[in-house]
Amino acid sequence: MDKIIIRGGKRLSGTIPISGAKNAALTLIPCALLTEEPLTLRNLPRLADIDGFQHLMTQFGASTTVAGKRPEDFGRVVTMEAPRLTSTVAPYDLVRKMRASILVLGPLLARAGEATVSLPGGCAIGNRPIDLHLKVLEALGAEIELAQGYVRAAAPDGGLPGGDFTFPVVSVGATENALMTAVLANGTSRLFNAAREPEIVDLCNLLVAMGAEIEDIGSGDLTIHGVKRLFGTTYKVMPDRIEAGSYACAAAITGGDVLLEGAKEKEMAATLHALRNIGVICEVEKTGIRITADGPLKPVNLSTAPYPGLATDMQAQLMALLCRAEGTSVLTETIFENRYMHVPELARMGAHIETSGRTAIVHGVDRMTGAEVMATDLRASMSLIIAGLAAEGETQVRRIYHLDRGYERLEEKLAQAGADIERIGDE
Ligand code: UD1
Repeated sequence: MDKIIIRGGKRLSGTIPISGAKNAALTLIPCALLTEEPLTLRNLPRLADIDGFQHLMTQFGASTTVAGKRPEDFGRVVTMEAPRLTSTVAPYDLVRKMRASILVLGPLLARAGEATVSLPGGCAIGNRPIDLHLKVLEALGAEIELAQGYVRAAAPDGGLPGGDFTFPVVSVGATENALMTAVLANGTSRLFNAAREPEIVDLCNLLVAMGAEIEDIGSGDLTIHGVKRLFGTTYKVMPDRIEAGSYACAAAITGGDVLLEGAKEKEMAATLHALRNIGVICEVEKTGIRITADGPLKPVNLSTAPYPGLATDMQAQLMALLCRAEGTSVLTETIFENRYMHVPELARMGAHIETSGRTAIVHGVDRMTGAEVMATDLRASMSLIIAGLAAEGETQVRRIYHLDRGYERLEEKLAQAGADIERIGDE
C-alpha cells in the first residue's frame, strides 16, 4: 500500500489549483439517473470515490464517456446517459466502500418507482444512520422495507404523490435524496429544516437546469413542484470548499503565502472567519483567495455546525493548525460523535490535546516532530499531512487510500507549492 512521506519545515508559496467539489460531484452524478437524456458534468475531480460512483452507475445501465482531456489537466468532463434503467439494485459489493452510494436510492425510486440499495459503509466517523433518508422518502409517499442488509423503496401505483417533511436534525445526504426524489413526484413537496450546504445549492441548480421546479434554493425550507420529466444538460461542478480550506491550513501552518486558485469566498466564509481569528491573512483576489501567515498563530474556540456554520469536514485540519498556536484552543464537534480519531496520531507528532466527549482542548506546542502515522478517515488523514508539513524531520502517512478518496493529486499540488512530499509504494 502506498504511503506519503513529508520532510517538514518547508514554507509553502505559489498557487494551488482547487478541484471540483467531491461532495457536490457525488450528488450531481446520480442525477443522470433522472433522465433518458445525456448529462454532462464538467470539472469533475479525479478521485477514487468519483471513479467508484461512476462504476456504480453502470450497474443501472448508465453509459459513461470521459472527454479527451490531457492526463496532466485537473478536472474531467464526463457524460453519462441512462436511456433505460437496466437494474434498480445497488449490490453490497459496489456500495460497501462508499457511503455516498445511498444517494442512488432517491433517483432510482423517482425514475423507476422502485430501488433496492445495500446499506452503506464509508468513513468510520461515528455512527452514521440513514433513518432520515428513509423517513423523508416515506413522507414523499414511498413504501420502505429493510431486509438482509438492503433497503427497498417502492412508489405506490400511480407514482409518488410527494409530501411534506421536517428534518429533526440537518442532514446533507437525506436532503439530497429527498430533492432527487421530489423533483419527479406527482405533486408538491415541502422540506423544512433542510440542509443549506453549498453542495445542496449546486444540486438544486443542476436539477433546475434539467427542468425541475424548486423554490427558495439556498434556504432551509424548500418547495419542490414535481414535473413529468427532466432533460439532459451540461453543468460545471462547484469548487471544493473543503479542499481549499485544507490547503489554507497547510499554507498557514508553514507561515506560507499561497493563492488558492478558484476558491470562492462566500462558500468558505466560516473557515475564513476562523482562520482570520487565528491570525491568518485571507484576501479575496480575482482568481481565488490568497492565504498568508507571517505572525504567530492565535488560539481560538471553534464549534462545528451545519452550514453556514463551520463545516465538520474542516475540524481535523483546523485542529492540526491550532496545535501550533500560542495558547489553548477549544474545539467542539457537534455533527458527528467519534470524530477525533486524528488526536492520538497528532499526539505521536508532539501535539498536546485532551478530549472529553465532543470537546477537544488543544494546547499549542512550540514544535512538532515527524512520526509514522495513519488515519482512519479522509479529513483526519489530511490533518496529519498538515501537521507533517510543519513538523521537524520526516513524517510517514500510511493508509493514504483515504486521501485518494478526497484530494485530487494531493502530493503534486503541495510539491508544486514547495512542500517536500512524495508518494512511495510500501515494500
Ligand atoms: C455529508 C458529507 C460529509 C459531511 C457531512 C456533514 C457527502 C458525500 N458527505 O455527509 O462529508 O461531513 O455531510 O456536513 O456529502 N444523520 C442521522 N440520520 C440520517 C442521516 C444523518 O441521524 O439518516 C445524522 C448523522 O449521524 C450526523 C448528522 O445527521 O450526525 C449529519 O449527517 P449528514 O449531514 O447526513 O452527513 P452525510 O450526508 O452523510
